[in-house]
Amino acid sequence: MSNIKKVAIVTGASQGMGEAIVNAYRARGYGVVATSRSIQQSTDPDLVTVAGDIGDPETSKRLVAAALERFGRIDTLVNNAGIFIGKAFTDYTEEDYRLKLKTNLDGFFFATQAVIPVMLEQGSGHVVQITASTAEFASSRSPAFIAMLTKGGMNSATKSLAIEYATRGIRVNAVAPGVIRTPMHNPEIVEQLAAFHPMNKLGEVEDIVRAVLYLEDACFSTGEILHVDGGLIAGR
Ligand SMILES: NC(=O)c1ccc[n+]([C@@H]2O[C@H](COP(=O)([O-])OP(=O)(O)OC[C@H]3O[C@@H](n4cnc5c(N)ncnc54)[C@H](OP(=O)(O)O)[C@@H]3O)[C@@H](O)[C@H]2O)c1
Repeated sequence: MSNIKKVAIVTGASQGMGEAIVNAYRARGYGVVATSRSIQQSTDPDLVTVAGDIGDPETSKRLVAAALERFGRIDTLVNNAGIFIGKAFTDYTEEDYRLKLKTNLDGFFFATQAVIPVMLEQGSGHVVQITASTAEFASSRSPAFIAMLTKGGMNSATKSLAIEYATRGIRVNAVAPGVIRTPMHNPEIVEQLAAFHPMNKLGEVEDIVRAVLYLEDACFSTGEILHVDGGLIAGR
């Protein structure tokens, strides 16, 4: 067992925001359990990787087992794994629908349900999900029904869990990004998406990392949906 003091589990950790969030928690001295389907082993002894599909409940069980075996506790869960499929509503296939719900919602449900008992036993914990500002801002230029269904559901569930566990030491928050420059977007067209934001620029992964770390430290904040979206939520 390591002598690490605090421990975070990060999903969707192989690239983009998840990879940057892992690095930020490690820089703070946290032990980290990082997961995604394709994640590679690490040479860092305080970074454990678990490969698996987050929509499969067994993955979450393995995450908790790995965290407890290596570090003996779980302080933070970052529910970051997610996919985006933007289409006109009637173009979505059943496969699109099932895949998106499995990755975005099943993953959130199983991972959160797996860590909460550990946090309850400790009397402390923080669960933070990466949702999306678009979940609250319908745009005629970018139809996103399934994103709104899943990320909007996660925003509401964040408040539900925050209240359910408010007196038991567990805080539950969300970060709602606008368009962030990550491998999720085609680099050849991503710059055009800057115009989606009132600030007329793209967000960077560091913007999301800062928000996650802010919520980590914000001991009097729970049920918060922190928008990091260049002003999108304020209007257009
Ligand atoms: N980028 C944006 O503009 C934006 C905006 C709003 C919200 N978000 C949200 O922010 C989060 C991170 O996005 P990102 O831009 O960093 O995405 P990304 O670069 O595409 O990375 C997604 C991560 O999720 C993992 N993943 C995908 N499907 C998975 C599955 N079934 N099981 C386990 N892991 C899976 C991927 O790894 P593997 O392929 O190895 O599994 C990868 O590590 C997502 O929830 C996304 O919806 C992004």
